[in-house]
Amino acid sequence: MKQSRRKFINSIGAVAATPLLYTNEPIRFSTDFWENLRADFLLTESRTYLNNGTFGPSPKLVVDTIKKSFESTNTSGEYGHTDEVRKTLAEFVNADVSEISLTHNTTEGINIVCWGLPLKAGDEVIITLHEHVGNALPWLNRAKLDGIILKPFQPATTAEENLNIIKKLVNDKTRVIAIPHITCTTGLIFPIKEISEMARSKSIFTAIDGAHGSGTFNLNMKELGCDFYATSCHKWMLGPNGSGFLYINENQLNTLQAIQVGAYSDAGWNMFSNPPEIKGYNPTAHRFDYGSQSKPLYDGAAASADFHTKIGKAKVETRVRELNSYLFAGLQEMKNNLTILTPEEEQSRICMVTFKPKNHDYKVFANEISKAGFRIRQVPESGLNAIRISTHIYNSKSEIDRFLKAVENNV
Ligand SMILES: Cc1ncc(COP(=O)(O)O)c(C=O)c1O
Repeated sequence: MKQSRRKFINSIGAVAATPLLYTNEPIRFSTDFWENLRADFLLTESRTYLNNGTFGPSPKLVVDTIKKSFESTNTSGEYGHTDEVRKTLAEFVNADVSEISLTHNTTEGINIVCWGLPLKAGDEVIITLHEHVGNALPWLNRAKLDGIILKPFQPATTAEENLNIIKKLVNDKTRVIAIPHITCTTGLIFPIKEISEMARSKSIFTAIDGAHGSGTFNLNMKELGCDFYATSCHKWMLGPNGSGFLYINENQLNTLQAIQVGAYSDAGWNMFSNPPEIKGYNPTAHRFDYGSQSKPLYDGAAASADFHTKIGKAKVETRVRELNSYLFAGLQEMKNNLTILTPEEEQSRICMVTFKPKNHDYKVFANEISKAGFRIRQVPESGLNAIRISTHIYNSKSEIDRFLKAVENNV
């Protein structure tokens, strides 16, 4: 039968829309690899998604892994274990499997660290004035309940300045530096490696809010050298909502007290002894996650790590930086009408750009941009009243061009 023109065009579309990473075939990195990667995602074409910093939509591969895992647990009746996932996530960030605790989001990891550290009234914690509520509230709560003292600082725009600010805040009461790797407000990167080195030399704990660190950087915990790193799988890793993990440096495993415990937290317990007792804790970071977990969700998290690994983590980081610089440069051309709040220094930004229109209220501007078909995020935090744009590997330069045009029409 003869094919109609419409059917023919559709079939071309279908060929172009074949996911690139769906099979076990080796990837062919052609020049338009990144442009074609969009075909691996379910994300609607009806609007341009520029809000990965809030939620990273999963590739089909991840969604299908979750579906299959749900089917498998429910057909077999075996709810399964997450040991393999723990291994995959450990490898993903170059940590030992004993250093990884599975969590449900970044905030949970931060709470485990915040409440598990041996702190007393008067101990000081260095934190920023640009925190997400997820890093602010746990430390504020511990300050309220246990009398620790928070020392917030205003971030500067270069890595060197930020390191120096933190060095100056350190005194003999400082016990923790609890800052983000990348801020949610302006996308500023803190030089965690250098900060951790300095902190270690003074026996200060480094508790990093890594919500935006996994899936952007070619993350390597051994190199980064911090004590604790809490992250989510649902942002830049492109995994499912409700999955995350906490890295606990092996040197700190015995320092961090497990507060909430259950199955897998212990190394034996006895209710019949006098007195009844926990005989010991699980020596690994598995001590901090307990009870039944959702295997399908964590299988999805592992699939998202595999998705990045298959492309190559270094390649992902390069592409994320490339799109960020492309957007940054485009916005810089409109400097008369808007103020860019994200640092210009390349080592201090990676995946988000935040700016403020000079002549319009940011909410009015956001409304117009949304009507024009773009999903963006407003940043009321820290009184910035600005607009945040995040771009990930499924975005294209042509989408950024269209966004820049829309900005030009509205500033
Ligand atoms: C910097 C930062 N920290 C923490 C969080 C909280 O992450 P979660 O919702 O995974 O707990 C976010 C979420 O946007 C964030 O941007």
